[in-house]
Amino acid sequence: MSMTEKLALLERRRAEAELGGGAARLKAQHEKGKLSARERLDILLDEGSFVEIDRFVVSRSLEEGQAPIYGDGVVTGYGRIEGRIVYVFSQDFTVYGGSLSESFAAKICKVMDLAVRNGAPVIGLNDSGGARIQEGVVSLGGYADIFLRNVMASGVVPQISAILGPCAGGAVYSPAITDFTYMVRGTSYMFVTGPNVVKTVTHEDVTMEQLGGADTHASVSGVSHFTHDSELGCLQAIRDLFRYVPSNNIDSPPRGAGTDPRDRRDDSLRDVVPENPNKPYDMRDVLRLVVDDGELYEVQPDFGGNILCGFAHLGGYSVGIVANQPAVLAGVLDINASVKAARFIRFCDAFNIPLVTFEDVPGFLPGVAQEHGGIIKHGAKLLFAYAEATVPKLTVITRKAYGGAYDVMSSKHIRGDYNVAWPSAEIAVMGPKGAVEILYRKEIAESDDPVAATDARIEEYRLKFAHPYIAAGRGYLDDIIDPSDTRPRLIDALDTLQGKRDQNPPRKHGNIPL
Ligand code: HXC
Repeated sequence: MSMTEKLALLERRRAEAELGGGAARLKAQHEKGKLSARERLDILLDEGSFVEIDRFVVSRSLEEGQAPIYGDGVVTGYGRIEGRIVYVFSQDFTVYGGSLSESFAAKICKVMDLAVRNGAPVIGLNDSGGARIQEGVVSLGGYADIFLRNVMASGVVPQISAILGPCAGGAVYSPAITDFTYMVRGTSYMFVTGPNVVKTVTHEDVTMEQLGGADTHASVSGVSHFTHDSELGCLQAIRDLFRYVPSNNIDSPPRGAGTDPRDRRDDSLRDVVPENPNKPYDMRDVLRLVVDDGELYEVQPDFGGNILCGFAHLGGYSVGIVANQPAVLAGVLDINASVKAARFIRFCDAFNIPLVTFEDVPGFLPGVAQEHGGIIKHGAKLLFAYAEATVPKLTVITRKAYGGAYDVMSSKHIRGDYNVAWPSAEIAVMGPKGAVEILYRKEIAESDDPVAATDARIEEYRLKFAHPYIAAGRGYLDDIIDPSDTRPRLIDALDTLQGKRDQNPPRKHGNIPL
C-alpha cells in the first residue's frame, strides 16, 4: 500500500471514529436537546485547540463478529481554555449509552494521569448509563480505577464535572469526588439508582426530575454547585471558572483582567447596614460594592442561602468570598450553610486562593431538627476548614458576630491574618435580648413593668457589649474601619500577604468531622 493509500485509510478511520454510535443515534441525541460529545468539546475549549488521544481504542470485550467502535464511547484528550492547558474527557451517549467499559475507563485514567503529571485541570463531560452491563466486573474495576485517581488528584489539580445526561450508578461517584459539578435543567440527572429501582425497593413514585434533576441537586441535596438552562451556558460557565482558579496546587491563581481602581472608596457602604439591628439587608449588595467590577462567581447559589460563597477578584487578586447572608434566616449558621462553606474553603485553601470573609451572624440555628441532624459535627466542619486553612485570611465584621459563630468565621484566634470591623459591629457571647433574658430573668419577672425593665437592660447591654471596641481593645480586631474604605483596605492587606508562609504540622492527615 502506498503512503497516499495509507493516508486515505487513516482519514477514513478518523472519520469513522467521529461518527460514534452512528447518524441515527446522533439525531436522537440532538432531538433530546443534547449536543454530541465532540460538539461539547468544541464549545468548552479554545477554538481548534482540542487534541485527541486514543481515538482508535476499541472495546476489549467484543463478541465474535461484533464490529468495534473506535473510541469505545468516550472522547479524550487535551485542549486550552484562554490559552491554558486542560485535560478533558467527553462521554458519548450514542455508543452503548455512554456506558463505561474497561477500555473507556483506561482512556479516562490516561488523561487523568497526564493531567496530574503536567499540573493541569481535568474536566469531565458526563453522559453515561453507568457500568457497561456486558462487561461485568471489568467495568466495575474501571470505575474504581477512576475513583482512585479522583482521590489522588484531589487538591493537586482542579477537577470539574459537567453532568450532561442521565448519569446513573458508577457515573455519579466520580463527579461526587471532583471539586465542582455543573448540571443542565431538563437533560441532566444524577442518581445512584433510577426511579424504577426506587419504585421496586421503597414503593415510592418519583420522576427522574424530582429524584435527581438539576434543580433537585442544586437546592435539595446540595450535590451540584451550578445549574444552567442550556449546555452552551454550562460549558461557557466552566470556561469562566478558570478566570479565578489556578491550574494546580503550586501555581498562583490567575489575575483578574478588570480595570476597577484599587483605591475606589464607596460611601454607599455606610448606608447598607440598617440602624435597627434586627432588620435584614442583602450581603450581595456589600460584595458588589467591594469586589472588582461587582462580579461574583457564586457557588451553590440555591443551597444554604444563609451563607454566600463565590469567587471574585479584588484589586486583581483572585479571592474566595465567604459571607453570611442576613437576608436569609438572618444569616444563621445551619447544617447546609456549614457544609457548603467548609467545602468551598477547603477548595480555596488547596489552590492558594485567599479567603475573604464578610461576617454578620447571629449564631448557630437552634432547634431539634438541627441538633438531631448533627449541627455539632457539621458546624465543626466549618470551624475545622477555617482553622486548617493556611492561605491569607481576611475578615470584615459588618454587624453581628455572636457566640461560637464569632470564633468560627475566620476569627483572629484561628489564624485570621487581617481582621477588621465596621463601627456597626456587635461582638458578644449572644444578642442583647437573649443575654438579658438569662442574666436578669428574676429581676424582670419581679418588676412592675417587665417590658420596660427588659428594654432598659437591653439598652444597658448594648452600650456595654454590642460594639467592636472590646474586641479591638484586646487586639482580636486589627482595626475598626469606615465601611467606605473596605475595598482599598482589603486590597492593601492582600498586597502585604502575598509572601505569607504558614504550615500545619506534618501528619498523615487531619480528621475532619465528616
Ligand atoms: C450497556 C447501556 C447501558 C449500560 C444504556 N445502554 N445503559 N448499554 N450498559 N449500563 C444502552 C442501551 O442498551 C441503548 O442501546 C443505549 O444505551 C441508550 O439507552 P436507552 O435506554 O435507549 O436510553 P434512555 O431511554 O435515554 O435511558 C438512559 C438510561 C437507561 C436512563 C441511562 O439506559 C438506563 O437506565 N440504563 C441503565 C442504568 C444502570 O442501571 N446502569 C448500571 C448502574 S450500576 P441501543 O443499542 O439501543 O442504542 C453501576 C455500577 C458501578 O454503574 C458502581 C460503582 C460505585
